[in-house]
Formats: sequence, structure tokens, C-alpha cells
Amino acid sequence: MTKSRGGRIELGDVTPHNIRQLKKLNQVVFPVIYNDKFYKDVLEAGELAKLAYYNDIIVGAVCCRVDNSDNSRRLYIMTLGCLAPYRRLGIGSKMVEHVLKYVEKDGNFDSIFL
Ligand SMILES: CC(C)(COP(=O)(O)OP(=O)(O)OC[C@H]1O[C@@H](n2cnc3c(N)ncnc32)[C@H](O)[C@@H]1OP(=O)(O)O)[C@@H](O)C(=O)NCCC(=O)NCCS
Repeated sequence: MTKSRGGRIELGDVTPHNIRQLKKLNQVVFPVIYNDKFYKDVLEAGELAKLAYYNDIIVGAVCCRVDNSDNSRRLYIMTLGCLAPYRRLGIGSKMVEHVLKYVEKDGNFDSIFL
């Protein structure tokens, strides 16, 4: 748990119960509409997809996948977003730290890109 400007930042799993909130969030933050396949994959992504909560409210999300092209294994950050009113509170950093930790623990990635 991270405390920032009086708020509590936590990361949580994406599940069938909150996937609609992830869709809404991505619609607000990004100019592109992600298709059903994107969200189907996200539901199976485990630690590679996380929602960010600020005082128990969903305000951000990160969605990644493993990219195995050009003879390398890379972590592709597909989306990394935070609602505008909640920016500069450390929520983006918390999500990036999670991804970095995942990659470090795995030990088999050549790089990370977005
Ligand atoms: C990118 C994004 C996720 C950052 O989220 P965030 O929660 O605001 O990030 P943090 O608060 O952890 O910021 C970490 C540091 O990044 C830098 N930073 C973040 N936003 C910045 C900005 N607009 N201008 C300059 N520096 C910035 C600062 O150094 C900041 O640290 P500080 O606040 O202590 O100065 C958010 O701005 C966003 O959702 N943007 C729109 C979507 C997007 O472009 N995503 C990336 C491509 S997928």
C-alpha cells in the first residue's frame, strides 16, 4: 500500500466483476476503442493487467502482454492510464513499479516497451 497526498493507492486484479469499469476507464483516457478480444485477453492476463484504486475508487489501469516477435521476449505495455483528476499522485508510478517487479521476478524478458 502506498500513501499519497492523504490517499491510499492500491492495485487489484481485473475480474469479470470489474471489467466494465476497466472499459469505461480506457474509453475516457484513450482515444482508441479496444475490442472484445482485448478485454478477453486482459481477463486472462493475470498480473499483467491491474486496476489502480485511489481510496477504493478505480482511477487507473495498466494492461500488458508478452510479445514474442523478432526472436525476443518483450513486455508490451498496451495501456497505462489514470483519470485526469487523479494524475500526479503517484498512481502511474505505482503501476509501472508493478510491471517492473513482474519483469524482474520473471527474469526472462529482453525489454519492456509501450
Ligand atoms: C501517463 C500517466 C498514466 C501518468 O500517471 P500519473 O498517475 O499522473 O503518474 P505519476 O503521478 O506517478 O507521475 C510520476 C512522474 O512522472 C512525471 N510526470 C507525470 N505526468 C507528467 C506531466 N504531465 N508532465 C511532466 N511530468 C509528468 C513526473 O515526474 C511525476 O512525478 P511528480 O508528480 O513527483 O513530479 C497519466 O498521465 C495518463 O493516464 N496519461 C494519459 C494516457 C497515456 O498517455 N498513457 C501512456 C501511453 S499508454
